[in-house]
Amino acid sequence: MSSAVLVIGASRGIGRELAHQYLAEGRRVIATARDDAGLQALQAAGARALRLDVASTVSVSGLAWQLDGEALDTVLFCAGVYGPASSGLQTPTAAEFDRVMHTNVLGPMQVLPQLLDVLAPQARLGLLTSRMGSLGLRSSASGWLYRASKAAANSVLKDLSLVLAGRALCVALHPGWVQTDMGGAQADLDVATSARDLRATLAGLTPADNGRFLNHDGQPLAW
Ligand SMILES: NC(=O)c1ccc[n+]([C@@H]2O[C@H](COP(=O)([O-])OP(=O)(O)OC[C@H]3O[C@@H](n4cnc5c(N)ncnc54)[C@H](OP(=O)(O)O)[C@@H]3O)[C@@H](O)[C@H]2O)c1
Repeated sequence: MSSAVLVIGASRGIGRELAHQYLAEGRRVIATARDDAGLQALQAAGARALRLDVASTVSVSGLAWQLDGEALDTVLFCAGVYGPASSGLQTPTAAEFDRVMHTNVLGPMQVLPQLLDVLAPQARLGLLTSRMGSLGLRSSASGWLYRASKAAANSVLKDLSLVLAGRALCVALHPGWVQTDMGGAQADLDVATSARDLRATLAGLTPADNGRFLNHDGQPLAW
């Protein structure tokens, strides 16, 4: 079987655009969605569509065998939620905390280990975190639950890069502030530009980039 691109969380937004751009490039694309409409749309676009809820242990437990026999040379983990908008120190409810942390942190922690046996040599793996997760660049506390989840996701990526050193190139990626359901219409980057940049950045990675936190245009970001 030819090597493939895996896009996790491709029903909407940046993930869907990435899947479409890789398909337009002629790549074989495996893409995930949570519901029938999302799966059908991905299939219609030409992808192999897999049902996956990254926050559900039951759903994730079926992933490795569904990918058995694949050789993934590119993986983009795009699934994510923002959670409650906050401007100060509003304590999230336990349910809000669980939803955001289960999606943005437990998600990669339980999905990415399932991929270890199906990565092609020197595969490129990008986890979409966010500049909002950076401690070094932080100048606002807005959305502190989301920020905490993305800081934790950056930690997850760093550990993945240590375990996979020599086998794969793993980076945390900030896609920009992008016009999607999450980013809103006022965001400064259109989704096609963000996805194009992310594809170019992943394609241009060298071994020295393993474990880095990169802007969509490839520039390093402070953790
Ligand atoms: N947009 C921005 O400005 C921006 C900035 C920085 C970082 N990011 C990050 O970039 C990534 C993509 O963002 P986006 O703007 O494309 O967001 P989006 O338009 O809100 O799309 C989110 C995607 O994640 C999926 N998803 C959410 N929870 C999931 C779960 N439990 N299991 C599987 N899939 C799930 C959604 O699937 P459903 O359709 O099933 O809900 C959807 O496909 C996110 O990680 C986000 O935090 C975005």
